[in-house]
Amino acid sequence: MSNQERTGSDVIVVGGGAIGLAAARRLARAGRRVTLVERGRPGEEATRAAGGMLSPLAESPEPGPFLRLGLDSFALWPSFAAQLEEETGLNLDLRTEGKLLLALDTPAAERLRRRGKWANREGLSTSWLEGASLREREPTAAAAVAGLHLECDGQVDNRTLAHALTRAAAAAGCVILPGATAHTLITSAGRVCGIRTEDGSEHTADVVLLAAGAWSGRLSGLPRSLPVRPVKGQMVALALETAVVRTTLETEACYLIPRDHRQGGLVWVGATSEEVGFTRGTTLEGRTSLLRAAAQAVPALAHASEAEAWDGFRPGTPDGLPVIGPDPDLPGLIHATGHFRNGILLTPVTAELIVRCVDGTGDPRLGPFSPDRFSNV
Ligand code: GLY
Repeated sequence: MSNQERTGSDVIVVGGGAIGLAAARRLARAGRRVTLVERGRPGEEATRAAGGMLSPLAESPEPGPFLRLGLDSFALWPSFAAQLEEETGLNLDLRTEGKLLLALDTPAAERLRRRGKWANREGLSTSWLEGASLREREPTAAAAVAGLHLECDGQVDNRTLAHALTRAAAAAGCVILPGATAHTLITSAGRVCGIRTEDGSEHTADVVLLAAGAWSGRLSGLPRSLPVRPVKGQMVALALETAVVRTTLETEACYLIPRDHRQGGLVWVGATSEEVGFTRGTTLEGRTSLLRAAAQAVPALAHASEAEAWDGFRPGTPDGLPVIGPDPDLPGLIHATGHFRNGILLTPVTAELIVRCVDGTGDPRLGPFSPDRFSNV
């Protein structure tokens, strides 16, 4: 596209991660003219760097709005994945067999027991495992004090998801512009009317959806500063001759995700959590800490070789909750960002909520995630 070019759409989506692509796909399928601008290549940042875990309960420190939204999204995943697979012919390898949380010492076991109790009060199914029952569930796990199996947990192949969403959004009619960095919101008569990209091109639309993950706060022209910051995560993939982990395991120090079942024993280990801005790259310290934590959880992993290591930037917010909904001060601007550790889990429900925001119908679930909670920040 040449400099200074103008294009018109109903909706401009800023950001080509899972959230932006899924919203773009839904909106385009509903007949809206959608343009998506992505500073790099679609799906290549946090979506690709993620572990693909779908963990509403394991990622909730306590019952609350995140748990409810996460459970809603978890329930949407089977039909969401099936539709995407049908539209694209790609296999997302959705698995919903749960997750085993491991307590490696007595205080951790106490914390696990408390989590199990409040989860059960919330109506969520868990199983407490010790001794032989724990060994039977995951024979290679360390001789842990206890384990808590969570039923509502799973994983999806997030790298294939990135391809599937890009393909499905394009097939639905969304115009995807890779290498187009949104620079400024354009407003007129007190409402949004488009964006200008770094090359000077203007893209007009009635609605701008801000879904740029950790980069969201960089857009000029926002009505107030948006406190979304990068929280770096490093991950490593370990290869073994045979599969050693059956289901996703988690200790207080790491999670282990069995991956690529066609190749036997590939296990993804995650993740560091670092406040280092946008400093890219894995570090020896980060990788070593993950390898140590993995071997503590599953001793056989001490002999695994490192097949790959990578890093990415989670979009963190001050309260750890995503920012979803219409901007309170700037009509036409809608936020879908700040999904922190759970962008993949929350993709289907966020896309659904965004469609309601664009349609103007709203949704009572949006309350705790509203951008207006940062009005005084
Ligand atoms: N979803 C887990 C993480 O961000 O590390």
